[in-house]
Amino acid sequence: MREYQVSGFKILEYEELDSTNNQAEKLGWGVLEDKMVVLTRKQTQGRGQIGNRWESEPGKNISMTVVFRPKALAAGEQFAISMVIALGTCDFISRYAEECSVKWPNDIYVEDKKISGILIEHSIMGAYVGGSLCGIGVNVNQECFVSDAPNPVSLFQLTGVELSLEKALEELLECIGKRYEQVYNYAALDRDFLQVMYRRSGEFDWEDEHGSFRASIAGVNEYGQLILKDSEGMERVYGFKEVAYK
Ligand code: BTN
Repeated sequence: MREYQVSGFKILEYEELDSTNNQAEKLGWGVLEDKMVVLTRKQTQGRGQIGNRWESEPGKNISMTVVFRPKALAAGEQFAISMVIALGTCDFISRYAEECSVKWPNDIYVEDKKISGILIEHSIMGAYVGGSLCGIGVNVNQECFVSDAPNPVSLFQLTGVELSLEKALEELLECIGKRYEQVYNYAALDRDFLQVMYRRSGEFDWEDEHGSFRASIAGVNEYGQLILKDSEGMERVYGFKEVAYK
């Protein structure tokens, strides 16, 4: 394992890991500090949302877990961490590609393709967020994808230019670090998050357990639930996986 500093973060870089989130968990809260990053170029069992696998060709992409241990973030405001990571990642992608958005809850899209996935695990201590393990995969130089993940895309596929992983890491962490400075400013994060949401303006088709309907996005509440306004003007509130974009 190699230890070094990048953009104000302490990197713990491993040759190979099953999953950077698993490794961070193994290290444990006795070792993990605020703004530590577990990084590898070869992740063999990358974990995605709801038990899915995350595909990443060795040496081509960023696979890391950013550790945050905010001093006084109320448990009820834990979604601030998701917004920090999603907005920071979006800020980074926007340096290279137009039309970067956050597809609720925290997939990063460029137009209709997914360029980055985020998997966050919080540890709540009393009334506060004791720590968050923020797993981030960003597709940087991968040229083709073989898994059945829907619509993956890399920066290379979008721009035709290979980006050094060192530079990508430095810039991504710089963007995330800037957003982390706003972690206690929930209103500012919330305002910016709404502005970059996928399908943020206009009515679209959605589907919940009762069927299809048309609605526009009204926002996201502090529990991270999506608030939609349907065509009758009724507000509908959904948790993760309770509603799907059509
Ligand atoms: C998703 O399904 O969209 C979330 C993907 C998260 C992938 C990243 S890669 C680094 C970190 N380690 C993991 O095992 N998963 C996350």
